[in-house]
Amino acid sequence: MNKITLIVTSTFGLEALVKREVQDLGFSNITVSDGKIEFPGTANDIPRLNINLRTADRVLIKLGEFAAIDFGQLFDGTKILPWEDWMPIEGKITVIGKSVKSKLESVRSCQSIVKKAIVDRLKEKLQTQLLPETGSEFTIQVAMLKDVAQLTIDTSGFGLHRRGYRTGTGEAPLRENLAAALVLLSFWKKDKLLIDPMCGSGTILIEAAMIARNIAPGLKREFAAELWPSINQKVWDDARAAAQAAIRPSGDLKIFGYDIDETRIKDCLVNAKKAGVAADIVFERKDIKDLLIDQPMGNVISNPPYGVNIGSPGELAPLYITINNIFGNKKGWALYMLTADKRFPDFFKRSHPPKVRKLFNGTIEVNYYQYYAE
Ligand SMILES: C[S@@+](CC[C@H](N)C(=O)[O-])C[C@H]1O[C@@H](n2cnc3c(N)ncnc32)[C@H](O)[C@@H]1O
Repeated sequence: MNKITLIVTSTFGLEALVKREVQDLGFSNITVSDGKIEFPGTANDIPRLNINLRTADRVLIKLGEFAAIDFGQLFDGTKILPWEDWMPIEGKITVIGKSVKSKLESVRSCQSIVKKAIVDRLKEKLQTQLLPETGSEFTIQVAMLKDVAQLTIDTSGFGLHRRGYRTGTGEAPLRENLAAALVLLSFWKKDKLLIDPMCGSGTILIEAAMIARNIAPGLKREFAAELWPSINQKVWDDARAAAQAAIRPSGDLKIFGYDIDETRIKDCLVNAKKAGVAADIVFERKDIKDLLIDQPMGNVISNPPYGVNIGSPGELAPLYITINNIFGNKKGWALYMLTADKRFPDFFKRSHPPKVRKLFNGTIEVNYYQYYAE
């Protein structure tokens, strides 16, 4: 099978985690740049990557990369690429773009030049005068960076964070792939107690249970490339069957979620059921100030109201004081908090300062404060 270049995209700050996931799926010769993990593969790897990656954003095929300082070069460089290997006569072509530090600044013009070049190429190679664009979706990106054009085709469709289990959410829900990253960045293991005392729609705990049971995140959703004739449906079916066979049965997970809002707890129950982990997590309505911790050790992973979308800064101080009163002195407990509010460490007192990792929840810059068990 022909070798191709694949790019898995990631949120800023998560590249190392995504690279590790790609390695664990058996890939090598991986190069990492801001938000991109690039490696050689084949078309048949596309289903496995989409179905199994937990922390990535998308899986792209890199079709080409070339210098382009004028529209003629962009057109010619695009037209020599083998678009017909992927796209049928009826494929629906959408070109998106971006331009950074490049002479070709007009993104709209780049998009229309690229589309024209692809259409010209397909008409010639597929020997047709008409491309009806009534079929499966092909989203092509032209990314100009320092006068180099990179052309990719998106295989994922919706971003990989859309697992398909989340229907009910409160305000500011965490992206599912970020929630999975929070769990993987903590030292939680499936035999340990895990709680999220402000669990909202339950995303962190649902992702934790899926990790513990080895439930592939993309098992229950579709991907753009699933409708492409260029990848055999059997490859998708085999990848799903392998992922299904790898699921571990429900065991003795000790995962607990609480929220002050009854509606959120109802959402959690629905979401966990859809994700197939309802038996693995206990959800209960509870104000954190009523939380009684009598176990000597455990892990907390949570994201309290940020003070950005919900909860004014003034309202948050008493909440932080409560968190400190409950967990500050619980030395056997590791605490991992994701928040955009930089005042959190002023309220949470441990003998060691936290390890802090800068991340993004969508466009909101957040910090992940990691207090290891002492
Ligand atoms: C940012 S949201 C959590 C979102 C969650 N990670 C998700 O993905 O859906 C914060 C949650 O804290 C809850 N909360 C606020 N004050 C609380 C309190 N005193 N006790 C328990 N939960 C509280 C809110 O109801 C809200 O659902």
